[in-house]
Amino acid sequence: MGATVLGIIGCGNISDAYLKGGARSQLVRVKSVADLRPEAAEAQAAAYGVQAVPIEALLADPEIEIVINLTVPLAHGEVSRRIIAAGKHAYSEKPLAGDFADGKRLMDAATAAGLLVGCAPDTFLGAAHQACRHALDSGAIGAVVGGAATVMSHGMEHWHPNPEFFFKRGGGPVLDMAVYYVTALVNLLGPVGEVTAIASTATPTRTVSSEPNRGQVITVEVPTTVNGILRFASGANIALSASWDVWKHRRLPFELYGTEGSLLVPDPNFFGGEPMATQRDGAWAPIAIADRPFGIPNRVTRTGANVADYRMLGVLDMACAIRAGRPHRASGAMALHVLEILEAFATASREGRHVRMTTSCERPAALGTGSDESVFG
Ligand SMILES: NC(=O)c1ccc[n+]([C@@H]2O[C@H](COP(=O)([O-])OP(=O)(O)OC[C@H]3O[C@@H](n4cnc5c(N)ncnc54)[C@H](O)[C@@H]3O)[C@@H](O)[C@H]2O)c1
Repeated sequence: MGATVLGIIGCGNISDAYLKGGARSQLVRVKSVADLRPEAAEAQAAAYGVQAVPIEALLADPEIEIVINLTVPLAHGEVSRRIIAAGKHAYSEKPLAGDFADGKRLMDAATAAGLLVGCAPDTFLGAAHQACRHALDSGAIGAVVGGAATVMSHGMEHWHPNPEFFFKRGGGPVLDMAVYYVTALVNLLGPVGEVTAIASTATPTRTVSSEPNRGQVITVEVPTTVNGILRFASGANIALSASWDVWKHRRLPFELYGTEGSLLVPDPNFFGGEPMATQRDGAWAPIAIADRPFGIPNRVTRTGANVADYRMLGVLDMACAIRAGRPHRASGAMALHVLEILEAFATASREGRHVRMTTSCERPAALGTGSDESVFG
């Protein structure tokens, strides 16, 4: 069977990762790219040997089966609904939509049309997170009772070329960054029952120090520090700190505490890393990830770190799932549950209460061991 043909709408900063991921894979072929700014689509088309077309033409192309939505967060819901209305499966960058209500409208439209929605982050499909999932499922630390997730920095206006959207509705450290941690937690522990939080905004404006918009002053419309607590349906009680008001800190990204030991989970913004576990109060020992695909570093970040970045795995899995008639792992249902959780942090803080979730989801099936994308079956 031939490769699944893809289109991409949105040719900004993250589109390189998807175009590189598509070029690496035997399972898919990116045919066309489109953008509100035709010059952005033309530049990426020239760089990656694909074609730039108007958005309508991409949506009307009968050969394209899945359209990847890499537009800005507030456009995600509308653009993904247009993809569904065109009779194609949609795979969106995170968050699924600008808010939970919009995400629900999208999922209802897809269900009515009999089409699939997939959504980033797909980092939980990487070697490190699958190795952690296997460790938990095989009882390495017993039942998880607690944990802490931390994602804190001084924000996006120091590096992103167009950082305004990060500080508007649909952005903020929770929707933009904590989404990786909460998705990783749902993959590891299952759905969340309730959430509470205190949120704050350290400064009303941010001044851009990256090019080409250096000096631009952005009005902040979202909380930039959120300390939340998630009670999972399993009973696990996890603290999460997400902030763009922190210059430096020494907290680990992710710790889980079980009845029989503890687990250090690597940064869920990436696919690799070095998970560690203890038995009770014994010494920390590494958990091997070498027998799993998508863990070998393949990119140097702007801060010089050597990381494994295989964005696009969620699309590859979805393409295989469509062929095989099985559920896809980076699913819209999981993304909608995660979006409800993320939105609940702000609601809980504003209203001073615990917020119960109305959605739930299955944990995605674990990936087996192997050396390449054949693990998707
Ligand atoms: N940049 C990153 O490192 C990164 C990493 C992971 C995820 N993401 C996510 O990817 C998405 C895109 O981020 P980015 O950094 O590439 O943003 P960006 O601003 O660099 O690019 C977005 C592109 O979408 C286009 N666009 C906006 N609205 C559109 C519409 N309605 N129809 C068609 N095109 C439209 C814009 O013209 C622009 O070219 C965001 O949801 C972001 O959270 C970004």
